[in-house]
Amino acid sequence: MDISSILQGGYQHPLSRSWQAQRTLTKNMFMYPIFITDEPDAYVDIPSLPGQARWGVNKLEEFLGPLVKKGLKSVILFGVPLHCEKDDRGSPADDPNGPVISAIRKIRALFPDLYIACDVCLCEYTSHGHCGVFRSDGTIDTTPSAARIAEVALAYARAGAHCVAPSDMMDGRIKAIKRALIDNGYGNRCTLMSYSAKFASALYGPFRDAAGSAPAFGDRKCYQLPPTAKGLARRAIKRDVAEGADIIMVKPALPYLDVIQDAREIAADYPLACYQVSGEYAMIVAGARAGVYDLKTMAFETVESMVRAGCTLILTYFTPQFLDWLDE
Ligand code: PBG
Ligand code: ZN
Repeated sequence: MDISSILQGGYQHPLSRSWQAQRTLTKNMFMYPIFITDEPDAYVDIPSLPGQARWGVNKLEEFLGPLVKKGLKSVILFGVPLHCEKDDRGSPADDPNGPVISAIRKIRALFPDLYIACDVCLCEYTSHGHCGVFRSDGTIDTTPSAARIAEVALAYARAGAHCVAPSDMMDGRIKAIKRALIDNGYGNRCTLMSYSAKFASALYGPFRDAAGSAPAFGDRKCYQLPPTAKGLARRAIKRDVAEGADIIMVKPALPYLDVIQDAREIAADYPLACYQVSGEYAMIVAGARAGVYDLKTMAFETVESMVRAGCTLILTYFTPQFLDWLDE
């Protein structure tokens, strides 16, 4: 056999196999998405997201305490308001007594070292369930949408969020949020993570179930990107970098590894996040339950692929399990 034919000599041992990775997984790379309701004592399982629940603020200590002990470094909060008056501009999103702002305060007090990101969107709080506000002709009104989202982001920053992460996909919102943060003294106190390349995906189903944020009519195709749109994704990433994003995100993750790789090149000087979304998580769990593969092996293969494609931060519902697995 030719000398150049032999590759296996390079990875015959577990340690030499680990050297083949350009970057290895660490606990720092995991951000855990959690659902907070406005029922303070709630702990309610989410059937479509096995192992995940909606939590009330009074339950956060017993929920997060053991995870922080195991090395949980960051969470991203999603509000699930069940008892509020939703309207066409999503007024409850920045209610000072709403679930997100209450949870920020509570977590800052309980776990001062835990990094708190907040998803910023209107869909959980609007009567129509869409992520922006509408004109009377039924089209999205971009400028007031971005302004309203910036208002909400600023409220979360003021409450103590370390990072605000707009997931709405309204044009111009990164600039509007960055401006609002800077003008109010939060320019150097709050990170702006943009869901830049967020695709209109079938994989958000379990999340919409969990958060009660399914649109009352129509779909999100006029603002979330078409799954075929490699060029638009590249343009959105460039745009958000230019508008002041500190971290770029691609979402969903596994079907869009090429976009992660593109983002790595376009935003080479930025941290790059990807979101292993609810449907990806549910699919992996369902496949394991059906005996298609071993859950842990598959979970590792998916997130290692994301890191290989170039991301440095992974939002995943598997975070608690990885905290255990990375200790084994
Ligand atoms: C809200 C939002 C969604 C997700 C994150 N923020 C749903 C959507 O856009 O419909 C999806 C997360 C997941 O599926 O885990 N804009
Ligand atoms: Zn939304």
